[in-house]
Amino acid sequence: MIQRIERSFHLEEWRADELPPSDLELLQSAHNACQSAYSPYSKFNVGSSVRLASGTIVAGSNQENSAYPSGLCAERVAFFAAGAQHPDDPIVAAAVVTDSTMPVLDFSPCGGCRQVMLETEDRQGAPIRFLMQTGASNVLVSANVSQFLPLSFKLPAHRNP
Ligand code: THU
Repeated sequence: MIQRIERSFHLEEWRADELPPSDLELLQSAHNACQSAYSPYSKFNVGSSVRLASGTIVAGSNQENSAYPSGLCAERVAFFAAGAQHPDDPIVAAAVVTDSTMPVLDFSPCGGCRQVMLETEDRQGAPIRFLMQTGASNVLVSANVSQFLPLSFKLPAHRNP
């Protein structure tokens, strides 16, 4: 063996009412967005909101389709909408919530969203604070999104922008 490669992972659990107002505002926006979920197939509603450096909040919700793989998670709807509408305004924080009262530890972004969020963080060069909540549960907080995907795909440098 040449070396052992290890990665550590850190989350904080907060009582919602002890979070700073900016986090509560982002969570509330994500809960509102949850109501616009189009989820007739899974019947699982997800809302996601991102805060940009300018203070603008962009929201998304999961959007499904009868051709199932064509649907998109709430996080990617929000991240891509922010990228498309505010390409020069970095994302400083993001929240993802569901109205389902499942254990919050079982509610973290899927692999595809992790890859998308990681690349957003990489390219803007500044961390994205990430909040997760199910119903009115305690809130899980990550200082960045890259740690969700300790190994990720990155195109060779000569193909990168
Ligand atoms: N979903 C999200 O929108 N975000 C997540 O973090 C997990 C799953 C959506 C995808 C699909 O529309 C539904 O929830 C059930 O998987």
